[in-house]
Amino acid sequence: MVISGGIAAYKIPDLVRTLVRAGLVVRCVMTRSAAQFVTPLALQTVSGHPVRADLFDASEEGAIDHIALADWADLVLVAPATASLLARMSHGLADELAGTLLLATRAPVLAAPAMNVNMWRHPATQENVERLRRRGVRFIGPETGALACGWEGEGRLADPAVIAAEVELLLAPKRLAGEVVVVTAGGTREPIDPVRVVANRSSGKMGTAVAAEAARRGARVVLISGPTALAAPAGVHRVLVETASEMRAAVQAELGACTIFVAAAAVSDFRPLAPAADKIKKDSIGEASRMVLELERTPDILAEVGEASAREGGGRLVVGFAAETRDLLAAARRKLEQKRCHLIVANDVTREGSGFDVDTNVVSFVGPGGEVEELSMRSKREVAERLLDRIEKLRGERS
Ligand code: PMT
Repeated sequence: MVISGGIAAYKIPDLVRTLVRAGLVVRCVMTRSAAQFVTPLALQTVSGHPVRADLFDASEEGAIDHIALADWADLVLVAPATASLLARMSHGLADELAGTLLLATRAPVLAAPAMNVNMWRHPATQENVERLRRRGVRFIGPETGALACGWEGEGRLADPAVIAAEVELLLAPKRLAGEVVVVTAGGTREPIDPVRVVANRSSGKMGTAVAAEAARRGARVVLISGPTALAAPAGVHRVLVETASEMRAAVQAELGACTIFVAAAAVSDFRPLAPAADKIKKDSIGEASRMVLELERTPDILAEVGEASAREGGGRLVVGFAAETRDLLAAARRKLEQKRCHLIVANDVTREGSGFDVDTNVVSFVGPGGEVEELSMRSKREVAERLLDRIEKLRGERS
């Protein structure tokens, strides 16, 4: 664990104690400035191991050298991660022990930032965070609230209990190792003419969360997504598509190896029958001032996968979503059967904080026998976690 020099460092002994109580072995490395806020003795007492701070201390290097320490860790937690340490990480500076360890380690890195709200929002910090995210560094927090500097806003260290839970999850066994998970996400866009499309409100958040969680659990993950503003999650191979036909082709290309298929995409059910080659001009519709757009059905990707999987012997687990505005469970049960799925995630998209383009969701799982498990509102990430728990259970029952 790397501790850098911010006021939130005073909370770290408590966090270390929680992690040790959970059965983890914690070794602490402090930056030079961290010692201004928390003492090495406090960290040594709670972790039960000597605390390292100096790259060039012969006695410390003799006990366990910095490369051995980097190799030893299964996870490196950086808490608090100050603006200064994030900048040094982003630029790969190895000017003291903490930076050297963070460059040398091959373990996942989880950073819990804590700083003044303006420092956090500064473009320099945000660019550093974005760059670190792209390299696979995970972030937890910061939270919003009263800050030690007197300001109010984003910048508080995430709750130590929440950080500890995240560490435990990341260190969780890779129970989906060996599985190949294909996830569809986002909405498709069906061209009317070169500039206009038939589209829907799907942001890709739900499907992307499922892909990220499957990757965290050790699966090889292919995410086939319609247009989205989201970044591809770490460890996920993403294929971006535009139309239902493109999504279907991308799914077919991955299906051979796929052991778990999750269809979270809002695939357009209809597309213009004859998209115009040129932009349709307003005056081309004449006096009537209205036009009729003729639509045709798109391929049902999930139904095709369900059908093919059943034909091949049913080894592949097929999970669909059902976005509904009424008769949620009846419609979900119907889709379970018609699309030959093993599980349907029934999504009430009328509720506030549920469905399209929000960070939370309200879903129920409808299982193979039609049985229902209702979940209360939670983040899409938590929905993804619960869904993957459910998928693992189904996998276990079937094998
Ligand atoms: O992307 P977000 O903004 O996070 O929103 C998430 C979500 C609301 C899109 C998601 O939670 C969700 O409910 N996805 C399913 C949306 C949908 O199109 O549902 P449906 O009931 O129309 O379709 C049923 C199932 O068939 C879905 O798994 C769908 O992916 C699949 N389908 C539908 C039509 C089609 N042509 N091909 C398909 O594969």
